[in-house]
Amino acid sequence: MIRLVLCLFYFGFNVALAVQAPCIELNDGNKIPSLALGTGRGTAKESDSLDDVRKAVLWAIEAGYRHIDTAAVYGDEEQVGQGIADAIAKGIVTRDQVFVTTKLWNDKHARDKVVPALRESLSRLGLDYIDLFLIHFPVATKDDGSYENIDYLETWNGMEEARYLGLARSIGVSNFNASQIDRIVANSPVRPAVNEIEVNPTLTQEPLVYHCLSLGIAVMSYSPFGFLVSRDRPDAPPPRYDDPTLAALAAKYGKTPGQIVLRYLIERGLIPIPKSTNQKRIAENINVFDFQLTREEIASISRFNANTRVIDISHWKDHPYYPHQS
Ligand SMILES: NC(=O)c1ccc[n+]([C@@H]2O[C@H](COP(=O)([O-])OP(=O)(O)OC[C@H]3O[C@@H](n4cnc5c(N)ncnc54)[C@H](OP(=O)(O)O)[C@@H]3O)[C@@H](O)[C@H]2O)c1
Repeated sequence: MIRLVLCLFYFGFNVALAVQAPCIELNDGNKIPSLALGTGRGTAKESDSLDDVRKAVLWAIEAGYRHIDTAAVYGDEEQVGQGIADAIAKGIVTRDQVFVTTKLWNDKHARDKVVPALRESLSRLGLDYIDLFLIHFPVATKDDGSYENIDYLETWNGMEEARYLGLARSIGVSNFNASQIDRIVANSPVRPAVNEIEVNPTLTQEPLVYHCLSLGIAVMSYSPFGFLVSRDRPDAPPPRYDDPTLAALAAKYGKTPGQIVLRYLIERGLIPIPKSTNQKRIAENINVFDFQLTREEIASISRFNANTRVIDISHWKDHPYYPHQS
């Protein structure tokens, strides 16, 4: 079972006024801060530069974040590493006080490509180990994006090797469904520590979240704001940022609608990954540990569920390991 533990001794108590996210104990005994900065480029505007990521990571660590989420495919591992190095150079943290997650891309699923791919990520990040290494999708592709029929169990063996070599402290998966999780659990002595999936008010994912948590697998929730923020999808179901239910909760607790949604995810035992490159919003997004929603308030947000995804991977729907039902 997932346990919430204080991790100030592990992840630093040395920033005046910074907010710290409590930690969750993973099934391998490592501790993961319960909120991460997202650095994915999906919402980046044309005017945004990769240097914005470097600044965002530094601002996040200054604001108290101790967990940064990146991936080989984001193309920003170098800037993430520079932001961490800046924070270390400023004396805000030491390396062991920052938890870094990165992910293996689909064209590196062959057993003998996994460790070399992680070594490349580490080189770009300027780190000698990663705290959490995830298989980004269960779907393997060739360099040109066409399908490759590699069983993710084979990929998982490569992940185990990365852990055995000490290059990854914890290993896990992302975008895996319940039966794919079960298949790893049934065939490997090493259980995934984490499944990183989309969870937000329009995609609440109760069955998959429950399944993972009951197996002791922590759940990181990506795209936590769902359609509160602009995704160029005017037809998408509510809530939007100005939704009356969220506005009422925001007024009650003196928070913003975005903070209400992040708190909702935390109270469901999830680890949200809000992305921002704006210094004020970065600080706002971690300032969610001084209030609690009631059970009815949590239920009122869950009622928005429309099983509608922000991240559409239906172009892989014919792949043998496509994880979604539609
Ligand atoms: N494993 C996977 O397959 C996967 C897939 C997708 C995403 N992810 C991870 O999850 C992270 C987050 O997902 P996401 O980037 O799709 O979406 P998100 O965090 O839900 O939303 C990001 C958007 O919200 C805005 N925003 C941030 N804080 C805000 C606030 N307090 N108020 C109003 N707007 C705010 C951001 O703009 P500003 O930057 O201008 O603040 C940006 O446009 C990614 O960065 C990535 O690390 C993982």
